[in-house]
Amino acid sequence: MTANELREMYLGFFGSKGHAIISGASLIPQNDPTVLFTTAGMHPLVPYLLGEPHPAGKRLANRQKCVRTGDIDDVGDVSHLTFFEMLGNWSFGDYFKQEAIAWSFEFLTSKSCLGFSPDKLSVTVFRGNESAPRDEESISIWKSLGIPESRIYALPMEDNWWGPAGKTGPCGPDTEMFVDAGKAACGPACRPGCRCGKYFEVWNDVFMQYNKTEDGRYERLRQRNVDTGMGVERTAAMLQGKATVFETELFAATIDAIESSSGKRMTESPETARAFRVVADHARSAAFILGDEQGISPSNLGQGYVLRRLVRRAARFAKQIGLKDGFFDPLARSVVAGYRRFYPELAANEERIVKELADEEAKFEKTLSRGLVELEKVMGQMKAHGQTSLSGRVAFRLYDTYGFPVEFTEEIGRENGIGIDREGFEKAFQKHREVSKQGSDKAFKGGLADASVETTRLHTATHLLHRSLRMVLGEHVAQKGSNITVERLRFDFSHPQKMTEEELRKVEALVNEAIAKKLPVSMNVATMEEAKADGATALFTGKYGEQVKVYTIGDFSKEVCGGPHARNTGELGRFKILKEEASSAGVRRIRAVLAPPQV
Ligand code: ALA
Repeated sequence: MTANELREMYLGFFGSKGHAIISGASLIPQNDPTVLFTTAGMHPLVPYLLGEPHPAGKRLANRQKCVRTGDIDDVGDVSHLTFFEMLGNWSFGDYFKQEAIAWSFEFLTSKSCLGFSPDKLSVTVFRGNESAPRDEESISIWKSLGIPESRIYALPMEDNWWGPAGKTGPCGPDTEMFVDAGKAACGPACRPGCRCGKYFEVWNDVFMQYNKTEDGRYERLRQRNVDTGMGVERTAAMLQGKATVFETELFAATIDAIESSSGKRMTESPETARAFRVVADHARSAAFILGDEQGISPSNLGQGYVLRRLVRRAARFAKQIGLKDGFFDPLARSVVAGYRRFYPELAANEERIVKELADEEAKFEKTLSRGLVELEKVMGQMKAHGQTSLSGRVAFRLYDTYGFPVEFTEEIGRENGIGIDREGFEKAFQKHREVSKQGSDKAFKGGLADASVETTRLHTATHLLHRSLRMVLGEHVAQKGSNITVERLRFDFSHPQKMTEEELRKVEALVNEAIAKKLPVSMNVATMEEAKADGATALFTGKYGEQVKVYTIGDFSKEVCGGPHARNTGELGRFKILKEEASSAGVRRIRAVLAPPQV
């Protein structure tokens, strides 16, 4: 049975049990600040679980695209994925455990449905604790359906409780269903939940009858709900007798594309298999995130950062198997082709997906290769001296100078038997943030939290822009906000009216002249008073006597700022204003970019 057939059969089955079939939601949650992505089918339905009537009724079923990156390090094994599809049936205050479990069992085992042998099923249930009792009811329902006690496992909250993603929200005990993949047990402790690949979790029925409150209590909900989730990829693997989700038709075209681009076979070695899986999974997730109705782009914040991390992690593993620049193109196209029937938004956004992946890969390429050389050098020295813990300071330097995510440093460290002083890293990171904040516009914080080469250059360009605006428009121009990403700068400043074309051209030319002069950028520490006396532009008055950093760019600009900055304006490239518009009353906004410097 293919995944397409599985989806249709599932929705048909629950339709025949009185469920209205509703469409899935975007991957980007609406009005739900507790999660970055839709991580389960229940997310878009939270209001109805809490008692709000749903327009389609009390029994619903759908399929939902989901992204979960909490297990990102497990991707590469037989079943973990960062993107997956979930099939779900819901009861909002309608049926409860008896029907939910009996229907799950029927769908899994009936010859007219999935036809799994009941002998291959194991289930888990909630063991009970001081907050909620042991789930005797589910145990007895499973027994009545013929599942022997030896295959019913009562486990603690961490295994059998679906909790809210945020601090508060609907939750409750669950019962999870596992199909035995047919492998021998890996040891006496092997049981559902074991990672060895014997037990494939295919479905989870959650009995939501509690709401977790601010103070951590579980109060009973007004209505008892059922929330279920069947993983399409895992179930398809079991239906097709495959040992991993990556061997199903859902990944076939992507794996083929990796094989033909790399000239390697996925099955060559366990390391190759892992790299193939990571690349295939991350490329698929990235394609879905970029192709979502709410399409977002790689950035240093929120969803954009998760996307960036997926793309960059894929790029790193791609190297291991010899994939070359531009490798995302055929992979993304294979995902779009495979899913376009069910997810037309992918087809509609195909060119954007391909382009954004190529751009992000190219950006990362530059910093990654330099960072890797540095890291390998450091690790080589450490090995020679028998050291096994990389200092937080070095990890931070890699991050700061090369935009090298600390997770990568950790991962590469692990492969080399070297640990990372994460605490030291966090300390260095915090210190950097504080220094950056001192005396500088707090709006800088977002963009420069990453301090990559690109943002640093744009930061220096922002100072040139600020000075040029004052030269062209007058000294009334004051910075009102700044936001820098690796792609562009955004600068808000006080000015009463729209800038003319001529003013814009002049400003652009002044900045480019300062760049062409290859002006050195220097920094000194002074008190705010000294800085002002020295003619520096300062945004905040700060506390009396407070030490601040003053950045001087040749004889062109002097500003109190947290940094960091390029060493010389010659590194910046060509400055180009994309747009000038109103930001708020009396405040204008400029968006500008730097074309790559000539090398
Ligand atoms: N909300 C449950 C899950 O995602 C069904 O596993």
